[in-house]
Amino acid sequence: MRSRAFRVFSALLLAACGGLAGAADFTGPDSCKGCHPEAYDAWMKSKHARATETLAEGQKKDARCLSCHAPDQAEQTLAAVTCETCHGGGQYYSPSYVMKDPELARLVGLVDPSEKQCRTCHDASSPSLRPFDFKEALKAIDHWSAERARKQQTRADAAPSTPAPATAKK
Ligand code: HEC
Ligand code: HEC
Ligand code: HEC
Ligand code: HEC
Repeated sequence: MRSRAFRVFSALLLAACGGLAGAADFTGPDSCKGCHPEAYDAWMKSKHARATETLAEGQKKDARCLSCHAPDQAEQTLAAVTCETCHGGGQYYSPSYVMKDPELARLVGLVDPSEKQCRTCHDASSPSLRPFDFKEALKAIDHWSAERARKQQTRADAAPSTPAPATAKK
């Protein structure tokens, strides 16, 4: 196994060569699906996944609508509000060895979406009748509870029923 220092170094080097985090390319929601199937399914059922379909034909090319309904269309050719609209472009953080290291993933572009970020689109100019309630809105887009449940299950399954002898560990 390569050391963490080596992994951090290679990921940062890649990101630096690519123009540093923030300028990372988007990999598209299908690229997250394989490792995050629950999150993907929940997102697919959400309005974010259909934010471009909602628009009438002419509006699908109207930059005034796309700024919220498909903000990554122009630069990354991705329709709707996708994983990376909220979590940042995945080019550097989505390799498995980076994803398993939460600190490193954030160093190379993984974003923890904030209320402020939601409000860049859910603001006074969006057509909602009710003011944006962050807590309620979070519940409505929950795609992490199922992810966390699976993770816990995986850990429970992996845990030996009797403590393994010390020699069995690497
Ligand atoms: C090769 C598999 C793989 C791919 C592809 C992948 N991830 Fe991950 N991701 C993981 C693993 C493994 C974790 C760590 C889970 C854990 O905590 O055990 C993770 C964690 C995360 C987390 C939680 C980070 C934290 O520390 O709280 C987010 C958010 C995330 N991934 C988003 C994405 C997005 C968005 C994409 C697509 C752009 C993506 N991932 C692609 C495997 C992957
Ligand atoms: C890039 C712009 C953008 C960002 C950022 C964004 N949203 Fe949205 N959101 C939209 C659009 C556009 C729709 C409407 C999609 C449609 O129906 O066409 C929407 C719809 C929703 C809905 C469904 C509303 C309904 O009437 O059922 C919820 C809930 C929601 N967003 C929550 C959030 C939360 C929580 C965040 C932040 C974590 C967030 N959104 C960030 C653009 C955004
Ligand atoms: C500032 C961001 C923003 C802009 C710009 C924007 N929208 Fe939206 N739009 C939203 C959000 C957020 C929602 C979801 C509101 C909610 O229900 O909470 C939405 C919802 C909608 C819906 C209702 C979808 C549904 O499921 O009921 C339609 C239709 C719509 N927008 C059309 C448009 C059109 C057409 C334009 C361009 C003229 C446009 N929007 C520009 C943010 C925006
Ligand atoms: C509208 C913004 C938005 C979109 C779109 C979105 N996410 Fe998230 N995601 C969030 C927020 C906010 C959280 C953190 C919620 C919390 O911790 O309360 C989160 C949490 C997560 C987590 C963390 C789970 C854990 O173990 O803690 C993963 C993994 C994840 N998202 C993957 C994805 C994937 C994959 C997609 C696309 C299929 C996606 N997200 C689309 C906003 C978004």
